[in-house]
Amino acid sequence: MRLTRADFPQGFLFGAATAAYQIEGSAFGGAGPSHWDTFAATPGNVVRAEDGSRACDHYHLWQTDLDLMQQAGFNAYRFSTSWARVMPEGRGAVNRDALDFYDRLVDGMLARGLRPFQTLYHWDLPSALADLGGWTNRDVALWFADYAEIITDRIGDRVAAIATINEPWCVAWLSHFLGLHAPGHRDIRAAARAMHHVLLAHGTALERLRGLGRGNLGIVLNFEHAAPASQEPADVLAAATQDAIFNRWFIEGLTRGTYPAEVLAGLGPHMPQDWQADMTLIGQKIDWLGVNYYTRAHHAFAPETAWPHTVTRPGPLPKTRMGWEIYPEGLYGFLTRLARDHVGNLPLFVTENGMADADQVLNGTVNDPVREDFLFAHLAATRRAIADGANVQGFFCWSLLDNYEWAEGYEKRFGLVHVDFETLRRTPKASYHALARALAHPV
Ligand code: FCB
Repeated sequence: MRLTRADFPQGFLFGAATAAYQIEGSAFGGAGPSHWDTFAATPGNVVRAEDGSRACDHYHLWQTDLDLMQQAGFNAYRFSTSWARVMPEGRGAVNRDALDFYDRLVDGMLARGLRPFQTLYHWDLPSALADLGGWTNRDVALWFADYAEIITDRIGDRVAAIATINEPWCVAWLSHFLGLHAPGHRDIRAAARAMHHVLLAHGTALERLRGLGRGNLGIVLNFEHAAPASQEPADVLAAATQDAIFNRWFIEGLTRGTYPAEVLAGLGPHMPQDWQADMTLIGQKIDWLGVNYYTRAHHAFAPETAWPHTVTRPGPLPKTRMGWEIYPEGLYGFLTRLARDHVGNLPLFVTENGMADADQVLNGTVNDPVREDFLFAHLAATRRAIADGANVQGFFCWSLLDNYEWAEGYEKRFGLVHVDFETLRRTPKASYHALARALAHPV
């Protein structure tokens, strides 16, 4: 028996998530260039050098997309506002068309019974700020708070919740240490600075918005189950180090006023001066926490490499098109662990969960049984976490639409709705219809 809406607490929110750069089309409406445009234009960074200039053309087709949200029976929509669209130079001049666009978009959600869950930063850093060092420059916190204030001034009266940053680990580690996302740095000093400044920006914006009387403020963190590649003590330690980098750095920074010692052992010498003085600002109360969860990874000790002396090894479970193991148990693990070790009864939302497949339209339909199973298994894990005391209040699928999957270009399809990137035609997949049936079930 598949789960239905009736299996979740009264008022539980079901939705789907998207991000501005991945769907809107950054060429439209006077948006400024972002570091994703230039990263994508540099050979070797993105599959086929694809970028988000047109994407799903949500900028023009947003009403169709909100209709799809409503017709699925969702009652919340997680979207992001683009910094580079709102402030093309990152600072100073404001693009009025951008404010008008988000204003209409939010009204469109409300008209369809969708609660707007806004994310302020889902990775489209304005290029003019990248020129100044982007996340490695401490001033990014003030620039970000200014942007947060400007967009909130326009739509903050109608959004249900605001997240400052999407996935600080990706913003900092993936993009400044591993070099796999914009701006593509592979430098421990840049990474250490970004790891701290991303939370400083969160805290600075949060304080600013709170001062303006805004509530329901949070942040979205991503978590990846870190398993040891073997039971050898060195591999167990490698997994613990990666767990500290990925899964503990940000939540402990937010809730404990310091960072894990295992990570400071590597990053300490490269941290910005006096970082400790920022921890009170960073540790301000949040009203909710977003949890993005996709997979687990297996870590082995790699003594021949520099700190953190680890490499990943493939795991045994079935994998998605991203090569990510399907491991719903990990979601249960993080939701209960967060409640137990970090946030107590703070409202949690699963803000992203989903999978990529090679979906194709055949005779007007898209059959995606693996995604259906994936989503219902993760919903079941969420329900079990609730039964075991985690205060989870909503679940957002990633993603509403097939979209620009960053370094993977348009090749990896995560949508509940298929998008033909030639014609822009939207075709709801079988997983969309399965969810709609589950949500139509009376409470
Ligand atoms: C997350 C991102 C999201 C999407 C999914 C697959 O890390 O937040 O934009 O790319 O992964």
